[in-house]
Amino acid sequence: MTRPVFVVNGPNLGRLGTREPEVYGQASYADLVALTEAEGAALGLSVDVRQTEDEAQMIRWIHEAIDTAADIVINPAAFTHYSYALRDALAQCPNTVIEVHVSNPAARESFRHESVVSAVSTGTIAGFGIESYRLALRAIAAIRSSH
Ligand code: DQA
Repeated sequence: MTRPVFVVNGPNLGRLGTREPEVYGQASYADLVALTEAEGAALGLSVDVRQTEDEAQMIRWIHEAIDTAADIVINPAAFTHYSYALRDALAQCPNTVIEVHVSNPAARESFRHESVVSAVSTGTIAGFGIESYRLALRAIAAIRSSH
């Protein structure tokens, strides 16, 4: 049984395409899901893409990922910058955790420069639009094949 990859998206990401397109691009959330599922299939990964506006729901999904031995690709959206509860959930993950962002937070407002989840992630991919998700899945496939 192959371990799944949870792709967990936080608040406002469901509005990609219409949300500040000058920052986040023209691609919609449906495009993000399609790209992620297609790349997962191409890499032979069992990918489960989710989105919520709710911090508690994200934390429950992290617990579920831990309990099913899933690797995680996570775009915590604004929770990136202040959710110690999400950070504490991710700190419990024994498997790969990749933090992704559509934009490059380091090039934006100063409140986006801090990520409270980076230190408990395996690595971070940011600034490539929805391609960030494709790169994250490739990283997971590479890590799995090196083990
Ligand atoms: C984001 C960057 C965050 O700063 C912001 O709050 C988001 C999206 C990104 O993917 O670029 O909602 O995580």
